[in-house]
Amino acid sequence: MLDLKPTGAGTGTAVAAREDGVQVRANVYPVQVAGVGIAIPEGRLTNADLERMVETTDEWIVSRTGIRERRIAPPDVATSDLALAAARAALNDAAMEPGEIDLIIVATITPDHSFPATACLVQAGLGIANIPAYDLSAGCSGLAYAIDQAWHALSSGAYKNALVIGADTLSRIVDFTDRRTCVLFGDGAAALVLSRREPGATPGILASNLGADGRGGSLLILPAGGSRLPASHATVAARQHYLQMNGQEVFKFAVRILEESTRRVLAKAGLTVDDLDLFIPHQANIRIIEAARERLGIPPERVIVNVDHYGNTSAASIGLALAEALQEGRLRPGMLVAMTGFGTGLTWGSILLRWTKEPNGTPAVTER
Ligand SMILES: CC(C)(COP(=O)(O)OP(=O)(O)OC[C@H]1O[C@@H](n2cnc3c(N)ncnc32)[C@H](O)[C@@H]1OP(=O)(O)O)[C@@H](O)C(=O)NCCC(=O)NCCS
Repeated sequence: MLDLKPTGAGTGTAVAAREDGVQVRANVYPVQVAGVGIAIPEGRLTNADLERMVETTDEWIVSRTGIRERRIAPPDVATSDLALAAARAALNDAAMEPGEIDLIIVATITPDHSFPATACLVQAGLGIANIPAYDLSAGCSGLAYAIDQAWHALSSGAYKNALVIGADTLSRIVDFTDRRTCVLFGDGAAALVLSRREPGATPGILASNLGADGRGGSLLILPAGGSRLPASHATVAARQHYLQMNGQEVFKFAVRILEESTRRVLAKAGLTVDDLDLFIPHQANIRIIEAARERLGIPPERVIVNVDHYGNTSAASIGLALAEALQEGRLRPGMLVAMTGFGTGLTWGSILLRWTKEPNGTPAVTER
């Protein structure tokens, strides 16, 4: 067992004494967000459009979900295109060249292909090579998962600058004849540049809380197209290449886990809900956000909501909301912000940040 003992206050360095008596140095570098960028398609799908496609009404959608419109990628735009545009915007915001990045993680459940990884396509698009690039599948918790993984990779000292992207084009796997699901989802991408700082610098990322409960795997699932049910005429005829969801069960899970995971991540840092300046929950449904907000006892003005104009953008969701908070001047240096996602798996993930980045104009926004 490793017994980590800090070598000096604020140095961020720890010495690990192994059982065999050998001392190893474990560097724990602070990690900060250096840049944020997003990409959203120009095409809007409004509730009025959906009224013409399925048996639904604007009144039902707004009152049950809070969603008024979503962005839909045109046929020639895939997840990697949105991810690349968001990555370029984040690099621009960080005033960094692609060559300074040494790790790329793309969180997505709608990769361009089963393989190669979307992250490799993004890497090629940025014109860089010889660094690790991989995809991570954690649904709408994906960006929180990716931030956690990159944080640990950077804080260990193994990497210096990571590009972390949440990107999904859920419109490609949504059944636009199924009114129970097609009103909920939209497309988008959000990218963060995370950077290792010298020991002693103010840490940006303070804590994380990730989890999964695979027993709920069938509650939100894309049944066909994988090794269990390879794509065939029969799976297409049965519409099994579209996502299927048990809305009510996911709803109950979402409200519970938004509260629990947010409280857990705060407790890890020795903080409470009262310390939070901003809460950025996954944008799935305004009723889920409101129920969790009330349970947590957070005033409405400290919660970022953009589900009305983007719908549920899966892995991009909390990143789009973070960018919007920056753009509106609601997130400033020194503020404590919790971002919490939940999704298929079932999975959940919270990241606690002390915002350290000085405003650099508005975060670059690319629309396609
Ligand atoms: C999907 C969701 C909006 C449905 O809302 P709900 O209040 O639970 O509604 P119900 O499923 O109980 O359905 C109520 C009625 O509305 C109907 N309905 C469903 N979708 C509808 C639509 N778009 N328009 C009109 N009626 C609709 C249902 O058929 C049902 O009718 P019935 O009583 O005649 O059978 C809600 O359950 C939800 O948001 N769940 C979580 C989903 C989620 O966040 N998924 C992503 C996780 S990352």
